[in-house]
Amino acid sequence: MNVHEAVQKRRSYRHLEKTELTGRDLDLLIQAARLAPSCFNNQPWRYIFITDQDKLREMHNVYSGGNEWIHGASLVIAVFSRKDDDCVVGSRDYYQFDTGLSVGQVLLQATELGLTAHPVAGFSPKKTREILNIPEEYDIITLIIVGKKAVGSPDEPPRPRKPVNEIIFNNRYNSI
Ligand SMILES: Cc1cc2nc3c(=O)[nH]c(=O)nc-3n(C[C@H](O)[C@H](O)[C@H](O)COP(=O)(O)O)c2cc1C
Repeated sequence: MNVHEAVQKRRSYRHLEKTELTGRDLDLLIQAARLAPSCFNNQPWRYIFITDQDKLREMHNVYSGGNEWIHGASLVIAVFSRKDDDCVVGSRDYYQFDTGLSVGQVLLQATELGLTAHPVAGFSPKKTREILNIPEEYDIITLIIVGKKAVGSPDEPPRPRKPVNEIIFNNRYNSI
């Protein structure tokens, strides 16, 4: 699968079934996370890969209402970062931006592996911090929910995108 295909195919599916992730799968996801660009090559991203079934069950306590579909995850990746680990240029803090670049690569790599990797914000950072022992100074930015789209699951139509002319401008900003 080339990058174009991965970009087209990547979706945040909610109907997951358990699947066995191989060591190679995990290694490729790790490499995708590591190789992202970052300001001054600071690499501010930190990841916890949760594969242990007991830990995955314990994590059921952190998801917000409406996110119960996450219980079908085969792997949950906690993503965290702190301001002090990356560039601050005037009013621009780059730690979350750079961490997002790294996460984007993980999502595309997962897609190539035939997996769905779905980032979520609907979780309790406090409970997540406690369960995963993440120090206070880190912001827990997202959990990436990794699994396999369940066979025979209901159709999840593509979510709409804003029109190009609302988000892309030629040569100078034009409000519409
Ligand atoms: C930062 C972030 C937070 C999100 N939080 C949730 C969430 O809590 N629950 C959920 O079901 N989807 C969540 N999503 C998935 C988005 O709803 C989804 O990416 C968007 O609707 C576009 O759909 P697509 O990823 O299938 O293209 C989140 C995505 C991002 C990037």
